[in-house]
Amino acid sequence: MDIKATVAQMTLEEKAGLLSGLDFWHTKPVPRLGIPSCMVSDGPHGLRKQDEDADHVGINDAIKAICFPAGCATAASFDRALLATLGEALGQACQHEGVSVVLGPAVNIKRSPLCGRNFEYFSEDPYLAGEAAVSLIEGVQSQNVGTSIKHFALNSQEHRRMSSDSVADERTLREIYLPAFETAIKRAMPWTVMCSYNLINGTYACQNHWLLTQLLRKEWGFDGYVMSDWGAVDDRIASVEAGLDLEMPASGGENDRRIIKAVQQGKLDERLVDLCCERILTVNQRFLENQKPETPWDQEAQHALARKLAADCMVLLKNEDGLLPLTRGAKVAVIGAFAKQPRYQGGGSSHINSAQITSAWDVLSAWPHITYAQGYDIDNDAPDERLLAEAEAAARAAEVAVVFAGLPDRFESEGYDRTHLSMPAAQEALIERVAAANPLTVVVLHNGSPIVMPWLPRVKAVLEAYLGGQAVGGATVDVLFGDVNPSGRLPESFPRKLSDNPSYPWYGGEGDVVEYREGIFVGYRWYDKKEMTVLFPFGYGLSYTQFAYANLRLNQTEMTDTQTLKVTVEVTNKGTRYGKEVVQLYIADRESTAIRPVRELKGFEKVALVPGETKTVTFTLDKRAFAYWNEQLHDWHVESGAFGIQIGRSSRDIVLEADVMVNATVQVPKPVTLNSIFMDLLAVPKYAQEMQPLMAMMQETFSTHANEEGVDAAVSGDMLQAMIGYTPLRTLLSFTNGRVGYDQLVALVERLNALP
Ligand code: BGC
Repeated sequence: MDIKATVAQMTLEEKAGLLSGLDFWHTKPVPRLGIPSCMVSDGPHGLRKQDEDADHVGINDAIKAICFPAGCATAASFDRALLATLGEALGQACQHEGVSVVLGPAVNIKRSPLCGRNFEYFSEDPYLAGEAAVSLIEGVQSQNVGTSIKHFALNSQEHRRMSSDSVADERTLREIYLPAFETAIKRAMPWTVMCSYNLINGTYACQNHWLLTQLLRKEWGFDGYVMSDWGAVDDRIASVEAGLDLEMPASGGENDRRIIKAVQQGKLDERLVDLCCERILTVNQRFLENQKPETPWDQEAQHALARKLAADCMVLLKNEDGLLPLTRGAKVAVIGAFAKQPRYQGGGSSHINSAQITSAWDVLSAWPHITYAQGYDIDNDAPDERLLAEAEAAARAAEVAVVFAGLPDRFESEGYDRTHLSMPAAQEALIERVAAANPLTVVVLHNGSPIVMPWLPRVKAVLEAYLGGQAVGGATVDVLFGDVNPSGRLPESFPRKLSDNPSYPWYGGEGDVVEYREGIFVGYRWYDKKEMTVLFPFGYGLSYTQFAYANLRLNQTEMTDTQTLKVTVEVTNKGTRYGKEVVQLYIADRESTAIRPVRELKGFEKVALVPGETKTVTFTLDKRAFAYWNEQLHDWHVESGAFGIQIGRSSRDIVLEADVMVNATVQVPKPVTLNSIFMDLLAVPKYAQEMQPLMAMMQETFSTHANEEGVDAAVSGDMLQAMIGYTPLRTLLSFTNGRVGYDQLVALVERLNALP
């Protein structure tokens, strides 16, 4: 179909109609011109295709599908291949079901552990979130099915989600909240983007021209269509002008009529309406021309895949005395209702109608010497003495106790935020009682976001399973008993307490105004800068084997910001088990006039090693890895100086580092004015000749005063330096006793600015 020609044949009514959904999940057809409708469906860790009784909050059932691990878990894999595999499986399901676009990935930054939707999101770190998004998108789109990266942008809370205004400065936007979208759009080219409910700096995302046109299309080169989050459109005319192509679901025809009227009255350029149509039809055509309804959807095979993926996402947080892995045949008390009924996915629009669910108990009940005690009632937060006593007895009678705990559905969900980081009291009490009864206690956690762990010192081992999807039970058994060596790493910091989190004073906002006042200091960027102890740091996770690092090499020790740096490091499996290591690369700006985090993740690779094996991991770093967003240039900027290349097991465990000197090819212009201070001017070598005599005059004045009786004791050389350093040029009038005049100063400023 020649899209432009087709749009040219459409009536204004048909065009306006195409700009909103037919229903909850379809674009409108135009039968007269042979334009079919296309279906979109929720994801992003499974397919939520609703046939009838549509809703966008996960209330009504969708078709049976495979529920893979949620974003919180897949990000913990730090494994691009894993995310791509998940994407391919999702894409195949979509092809089988005739779904053109899956609504995900969701890449919003985890500003606070309280966000109800953190389980769907990837990370507190924009680099990790971006890399995860790229892989997932590439996986889905390799099957000729589109994705819709969401929620664009700054949708980091659920509280008042449809009316809140995310207020953030330019640098914070560019360095923290936008890069995951930017990376995905530039590298993986998602077919669509879903804009968020909230406002950004005073304008709804849906009608934000800067966001949807200037940044997304002009700067980043996005060529697909933008759809609204469900019900997010405020002013449809403004949103067409801003670049929002498709309103979802629909407004009962109201907004279509408003578009028609605005065009007829000359208030809206019809060419913009045409453009929206062209973009929607182009994406739809891409799907329709490559439709493969015969694609098999082997749900058994995908369930097995879900188990494999879930195991590779788990993070071993504690393993004292190497209690894990457990040996088969050991007498194990399996305790906690989650062992039979795992919490494996989150609530809301991403909720999958799972084809089958495997609990840990489904697997373990067939094994000898394994007992079970419920421990708590999932629906009741209060401790139940009968259940606790029963669990205690089971723990006492076993060699090892494994408690399955975490957050019940009502504790975290789309639609609202948490207010605290605690698990239900019943579960905390259970862990304490079991640990007191049996010193060999393991805790398996099912939660979508960090929790506090007051019981941590009293248990031997903790396995963070996150929300691991429908096969999580089997995967948990695989890890507990050593069939799989855990290799996940935390994609977020676990703070010791909620108030340690940098957004704590401001999170949720005042009324609808949510100021992102912590700026770029989100997650580990804050905890590192403040030198704060955390419960578990970003990037952290243990293994059943040990890895050693050696021979960190840089291909150059000095470079310009237009060159790339090649970094290699060798990793060896020193233990006796096969395992995977996540090699993390952080960059630390050693000296900078810009306020910067201590270190930032700029690379990671997951490597699989058999015992004794060594592999060389290579990273290539370009300007962006060293840069910060300069608000004066409105661009990425590298300041000349030394940068540390740090290889770490986590953000708090740097094992090797080396420095590289990076020379800037772009200078930030700093025009000289009468208010320029001596310190800044003296730092510029080309000003030296002009500045020296003035400096001498200042020194004379200041030291004369300093030598006056009684003053010298209070004035040190350092103080003099500082006093002169912070003095603006204009004060030469006051401090040189008429030796420098105003016209002379103006001429000086001109001369300095004219210097080549
Ligand atoms: C959610 C989106 C979702 C959409 C459709 C909205 O409430 O924010 O993430 O894709 O509903 O279900």
